[in-house]
Amino acid sequence: MTMPNAARTDARQSDDVRKPDARPGNPRFSSGPCAKIPGFRLDMLEGAPLGRSHRAALGKDKLKAAIDGTREILGVPDEHRIGIVPASDTGAVEMAMWSLLGARKATMVAWESFGAGWVTDAVKQLKLDAEVVEAAYGQLPDMAALDWNTDVVFTWNGTTSGVRMPDGAAIPADREGLTICDATSAAFAQDLPWDKLDVVTFSWQKVLGGEAAHGMLILSPRAVERLESYTPAWPLPKIFRLTKGGKLNEGIFRGETINTPSMLAVEDYLVALDWARSVGGLEGLMARADANARTVWEFCETRDWIANLAEVPATRSNTSVCLKFTDPRIADGAAFAKAVAKRLEAEGVALDVGAYRDAPAGLRIWCGGTVETADVAALMPWIEWAFHAELAAQAA
Ligand SMILES: Cc1ncc(COP(=O)(O)O)c(C=O)c1O
Repeated sequence: MTMPNAARTDARQSDDVRKPDARPGNPRFSSGPCAKIPGFRLDMLEGAPLGRSHRAALGKDKLKAAIDGTREILGVPDEHRIGIVPASDTGAVEMAMWSLLGARKATMVAWESFGAGWVTDAVKQLKLDAEVVEAAYGQLPDMAALDWNTDVVFTWNGTTSGVRMPDGAAIPADREGLTICDATSAAFAQDLPWDKLDVVTFSWQKVLGGEAAHGMLILSPRAVERLESYTPAWPLPKIFRLTKGGKLNEGIFRGETINTPSMLAVEDYLVALDWARSVGGLEGLMARADANARTVWEFCETRDWIANLAEVPATRSNTSVCLKFTDPRIADGAAFAKAVAKRLEAEGVALDVGAYRDAPAGLRIWCGGTVETADVAALMPWIEWAFHAELAAQAA
């Protein structure tokens, strides 16, 4: 009775275990730092004003171009300030939290590791009396049920669970609190509703494949109003200080950075912005991420052993696509997923695609716009191969 089934399984495995012929042209599917722009070469950065002061006219022009290009491509309204700040996205988020929170009650929302990190900041470091709203990996909390008259801190796209906000519908236009949004794995890939977001942060190292040195901090007029009318009870280190004598330090938002930026990283960002223009700006970037993510989703939909970690389709990320193995034959989920990622890396077909260390076991495939859809498509048969090869190894 069991023979025919066993024979069929063996045949399928030996078929599937054969390695695919084609390989992705670029195996870089890391969720940060993300793949650099297609065709990137180091000599593209030769316009960087190295060894020059960032306060010289040339340096200032470059920093201003980074701010202006961000506004142009992301469609940031004129009345929002855009600043380049230290310490990548983390620097930008913490600068916002330390500068703005405490004036009213806070709601900290987390559905994966990075959001959870901001909860820790608020509760354990700032010691705020915050309402903490959490959801498990794969789920989004009921955002419409939040009290938006409190200051709400959340992540637009949860990089480690692949769950994103579908849109800004849950955020009321007439909220009294500020919305502080870590959008580092969303900016340049997803539509951000600027009228609903008072603080938006991101790092160059994510969707545009830039370098990690600096964070971008985008403030709405309401956020500026808070900065100018409220002084936090705690001390602020120099690199967090956005005001001077109770007034916004406007220089920061013209490119007069608080401390010295890397002009090499700035040049790299300007090159990435140029490339973004060449693919059609935000629309083009979103379409590229959508096509990449769709390739992975369709692969999963036609397999019964792998699934998107994001449970609700509208919340599926088009950048950090997180996958889980669902085959009941898998004995140890974490060891299995690690072994699959290791096989893919050893074959040179996918680097850094293991799930984030605190997230459920699985794979995470970056699908932001710097990744080519043909490479995602070429990777899919390799995932199939690695899965069956690992299953066979486990059975043996
Ligand atoms: C949602 C989110 N927030 C914050 C960070 C930290 O970013 P950075 O290392 O650029 O400060 C990351 C990095 O992956 C992230 O995905």
